[in-house]
Amino acid sequence: MAREIQSNELPQGETLHLFADPLYCYHTDHVEDLVTLDMIENTRKHLFKSQQFSNVGGYQSSHLVGQDDKHGDWSKLYAHVEEHMRKYLEQNGCRYPDVKMKGSGLWINVNGRGHYNKPHNHVGTSFSGIFYVQVPKHSGGLYFMRGSQQNGHIEMMCSQPEYGPLFEIMPSAGDLFLFPSELVHGVYPNYSKSDRISVSFNINIVGWAY
Ligand SMILES: [Fe+2]
Repeated sequence: MAREIQSNELPQGETLHLFADPLYCYHTDHVEDLVTLDMIENTRKHLFKSQQFSNVGGYQSSHLVGQDDKHGDWSKLYAHVEEHMRKYLEQNGCRYPDVKMKGSGLWINVNGRGHYNKPHNHVGTSFSGIFYVQVPKHSGGLYFMRGSQQNGHIEMMCSQPEYGPLFEIMPSAGDLFLFPSELVHGVYPNYSKSDRISVSFNINIVGWAY
């Protein structure tokens, strides 16, 4: 929805920050209630070979995880995501947050020392997310890139963090992040000796008729 106001409603003699990107975060201390290391290992060792997308090194499963009973019970994670997707939509002023949503791919990332994910997005789906299962110290942060074109002067000389170019987050195990699929993001290299493990997914809002 476009914002339309009269010029005399604008803050006078002050800067208005025009646009924003909605990022949602929710932390749980009960990772194992949603995803277990056995589920990760089962997928990695018995179900899907590693694929190559944005990952440089490490293991990235097929996006078909959870679509068959033999993949284990991913329903608790999906219910967790759906609960928070509804809150996220509601908080962002969605007029109909009680929409139907459908998972559009769920995959596992296991990144060892030196492995990372190049900047990318997930266009073609509505929303994307990441759930962190295991995050050793110094195993690499998540970053989001400002969507619009960069202005070098504002970015580097004006100390305004909201003008990017990057918003960097050091995650913890149990963090869930939700964001619009077109938002470009990536992951810094894992500098620890242990694996960083996350589950990524896309969500589509279905049943809309424009
Ligand atoms: Fe991604």
